[in-house]
Amino acid sequence: MVQERTELPIERRASLRAFNSFGLPATAAALVRVRSEADVRRVVDHPELGPAPKLILGGGSNLVLTRDIAATVLKVEILGRRLVAQTDDAVIVEAGAGENWHELVAWTLQQGWPGLENMALIPGLVGAAPVQNIGAYGVELKDRFESLDGVDLVTGRNVTLDARHCAFGYRDSAFKHGLAGKTLITRVRLRLPRPWTPVLGYLDLQRRVHDTGNATPDAGTVFDWVCAIRRSKLPDPQQIGNAGSFFKNPVVSAEQCRDIIGRDPSVVHYPLPDGSAKLAAGWLIDACGWKGKSIGRAGVYERQALVLVNRGGAIGAEVLTLARAIQESVYGRFGIRLEPEPVIL
Ligand code: EPU
Repeated sequence: MVQERTELPIERRASLRAFNSFGLPATAAALVRVRSEADVRRVVDHPELGPAPKLILGGGSNLVLTRDIAATVLKVEILGRRLVAQTDDAVIVEAGAGENWHELVAWTLQQGWPGLENMALIPGLVGAAPVQNIGAYGVELKDRFESLDGVDLVTGRNVTLDARHCAFGYRDSAFKHGLAGKTLITRVRLRLPRPWTPVLGYLDLQRRVHDTGNATPDAGTVFDWVCAIRRSKLPDPQQIGNAGSFFKNPVVSAEQCRDIIGRDPSVVHYPLPDGSAKLAAGWLIDACGWKGKSIGRAGVYERQALVLVNRGGAIGAEVLTLARAIQESVYGRFGIRLEPEPVIL
């Protein structure tokens, strides 16, 4: 049970270091933990907090903090997981925005409701999953999305949004644009289609199928494979500060792609239905010699060049300096502008 609070504790000059997976230092002028929809309404009705600009913070796993935050930080701690409905063609589950994403994935599998296994071990909280339309190994949040509840931070009203309202794109949604800081996501409902079929198209999973000789893995096996793949190439934020992929994989025209292949035949690329192609940003960065390199206390992860890491005590400005140097060298060599994937503040 969520304990109802009559007043909202405001933490002044709160350190955000423990609340961002990069481990970057910054303070929030005011921080409020919201544990229920009623708490969000208390914020909206509050004489000081109500009119102030707001920053919604989930697990802080997709965030680069380069400065102190003047806005009121709302740290989402809304919990709860439940089965909403079970029909012949789907299981619908709901989770509070403050639930840990990976634990939700594991819980659904324990209940016998597969469908999220390809997105195992993605860091962060449930409420952040729609914000950047998280995805991995061939499945994106939008493929399993039913609807979400939120509270309008201007009116205090409850809203329910479907996929159309959320405008999901590649690591993108309306919550990064028009709804940023305006709608606080409180609960997310996911639709797990029945009958379940494994999604094994991604190269790393194909390799597992080949190596194990198991072409019909169950969902628990796919979950184990995804966890093993991620652990082998992505740093654990508990041990090495990072925000996952630092850049989006760029999409280039067919002509541009042909030109790059002409110069670098080994470039990793995925043709898209409209003739354009998505290039592996990790490959481009690696090809420019960045893997394992550092600028100051910010570095490029040794096993995956797409991930920037905090080598210990880095500040946001160092991460940005490194990111810019990488962007310049990739642009210089390939003529491609890499776009950062996390939110930079
Ligand atoms: N590659 C290199 N060198 C590197 C890194 C990658 O040559 O240093 C090559 C790999 O060999 C591979 C290709 O680039 O052929 C793609 O690499 P990988 O399969 O690791 O995936 P990715 O494109 O780097 C994307 C997502 C990840 C997601 C994986 C798996 C983005 C920006 N990143 O990474 O998402 O886990 O696919 O689906 O789309 C995240 O968003 O934070 C994230 C980790």
